[in-house]
Amino acid sequence: MIPKNTVEKIIDAAHVEEVLGEFITLKKRGANLLGLCPFHGEKSPSFTVSPVKGIYKCFGCGKSGNSVNFIMEHLQLSYPDALRWLAKKYSIEIVEREITPEEREQQTERESMLIVMQYAQRYFTETMFDTDEGRSIGLSYFKERDLRDDIIAKFQLGYSLEERNAFTVTAVKNSYQPKYLAKTGMSIVSNRHVEGTEITQADLFDRYAGRVMFPIHDDGGRVVAFGGRTLSNDKKTAKYINSPETDIYNKSKILYGLWMGKKAIQNADKCFLVEGYMDVIAMHQAGIENVVASSGTSLTVEQIKSIHRFTKNIVVLYDGDEAGQKASNRAIPLLLEEGMNVKLLMFPDNDDPDSFSRKVTIQEFKDYLENNTEDFLKFKAKKLSEESKNDPIKRAGVIKDLVDSISIIPDNIIRSIYIKECANIMEIEESILQMEVNKIRRKTATKASNTTANETQQLTPENVEEELFLDTKPEKELFNFDAEEERLLVLMIKYGNLLITTQAEDEVNVEHELEITLGEFIIFELWRDEIAYENPLYKTVLDEYIEQLKDLRLPDVKHFLQSPDPLISSFAVNYVIDKHEVSPKWINFGVIVPKEIDLAKKDAEKTLFSFKSRKLNAYINSIRESLKTCSYDESIEILEEIKRLEILKIRINLLLGREVIK
Ligand code: GTP
Ligand code: MN
Repeated sequence: MIPKNTVEKIIDAAHVEEVLGEFITLKKRGANLLGLCPFHGEKSPSFTVSPVKGIYKCFGCGKSGNSVNFIMEHLQLSYPDALRWLAKKYSIEIVEREITPEEREQQTERESMLIVMQYAQRYFTETMFDTDEGRSIGLSYFKERDLRDDIIAKFQLGYSLEERNAFTVTAVKNSYQPKYLAKTGMSIVSNRHVEGTEITQADLFDRYAGRVMFPIHDDGGRVVAFGGRTLSNDKKTAKYINSPETDIYNKSKILYGLWMGKKAIQNADKCFLVEGYMDVIAMHQAGIENVVASSGTSLTVEQIKSIHRFTKNIVVLYDGDEAGQKASNRAIPLLLEEGMNVKLLMFPDNDDPDSFSRKVTIQEFKDYLENNTEDFLKFKAKKLSEESKNDPIKRAGVIKDLVDSISIIPDNIIRSIYIKECANIMEIEESILQMEVNKIRRKTATKASNTTANETQQLTPENVEEELFLDTKPEKELFNFDAEEERLLVLMIKYGNLLITTQAEDEVNVEHELEITLGEFIIFELWRDEIAYENPLYKTVLDEYIEQLKDLRLPDVKHFLQSPDPLISSFAVNYVIDKHEVSPKWINFGVIVPKEIDLAKKDAEKTLFSFKSRKLNAYINSIRESLKTCSYDESIEILEEIKRLEILKIRINLLLGREVIK
């Protein structure tokens, strides 16, 4: 359990722009910041962050929240774990009590798997430094490859003993469950295991025995997988073994090096893409940290999107060998399609970044990267142009090849720049190239329009109105008051501090003008007619508001947005932020939407009016029902009651209806 005041301290420290800035590049846009949404993958930014309010909202997919919600969603953490993650980031100490064995049992599968991975990483590192075998085989291997101590530590490298179940036995001895050793893929279930029975240590053996270990981290720095390299030159053993796909390791999403490199990628506004673990590590050793590898799989669209969150400039650094060429041929169209600026860099003589970096000084390495980067399309145009100089048939094929690549680029302006430049290089008419590109784009566009549905809902003045007014909502059920309960809360949270004048009767029934806040007005109206909230979520939020008023505080939006109770904060984020307040689209088009604040009082009165008269209706209905089953004497009483209530209904309508019509 995390003490309440620590929770508040963490929430205070975790500024939304800072926390999210670790995962996305945000650009200033007015009072807000704008970036690419990490949740739904997009090419133009609609993910908006408001530092003033301490929240984010994506206008593409609708995801929204505060810093804690973001960490929960993005790193798939529970609420307390998200707080722990943030506490670590801001060096806030959490004094927690030990968890009991029962509580450990209750930890989710994912958490248990992450705990196993963290343990495994520490175990392999300790094994490498603290055992003879570790030092003489594992550590000396990395030393032979010229890795410095600080780099070995930074990448948390380790060693797995040759003994075929050394890791498994030690882990079980330290009370890690065999089930999770198997689930994480750290241990392999042998065919001795009888299907349907519980997995025991005897059923398991190590996946990585006798290998040096490279932990693979997710975006939040948690170990989710390993790559293990063999030290033997035997061609029959796989050079690398990687963790299988698991609940915590989604191969197509994770990039090796992204966690360590994301700051540098943001700062340089550029990302190097390499092939292997060792390439990433060697580049860090040379002081170049904006680098990632797709590690063992071919680059996926999801991986590209996770780079695009930080930069659109990518430099592909594949080996000069055939495999490297093939890999880059596969990756580049995907990169272009995702709107990345693609540059290319080749190393001489089949070198990869790792081997090349060890042949030259750090400065020479940096200079080489600086001076040998070529724009992919221009490089291609030049190369193809030379190859087909005197062969018109080949030339036609080459142009088609180039046109294919250019037509993938989603951005109009960038596409036409390329058309111009490539036409120059190839010495052909720009208009011809343009026409060919258009042809292909038309073809793919018709194909696409048949398959893709409306991706995001466009904002129009109509649906903004819909957001603002309750009465455009469809017919409500008789006993469901969610709409009114919610609307009143939204008004209280957003405009509760607005001073309004209202008519109030004094003890002798004389009406006076009274100046109170809108929040007090709503609470008073609910209290006067003894109206209780029914929806449990809305009730929680209402109770919080009333608590604050009792303490003579006027809670503002921020109070709710940053509430330590995740129910309250997510309510505030979801319902309180208007599209037109933060939407970049509206700002761009200079559209003026009616100011909600001007309508707040009217809206409150209208909602209260509808709320009360519907409540009353529901009540009258329910006692009418009881007429069916009651005695004659009782029925007389009930009919009297109904008559009284009908009169009350008319009074309410008069009292509140008057305000609404005015
Ligand atoms: P070193 O030989 O240690 O320098 O490794 P490298 O990273 O240069 O390896 P290489 O260029 O051969 O391969 C690039 C990447 O492909 C590696 O980092 C691995 O992620 C992956 N890879 C290489 N060999 C294997 C293999 O046998 N199996 C699997 N699953 N992946 C491999
Ligand atoms: Mn290599």
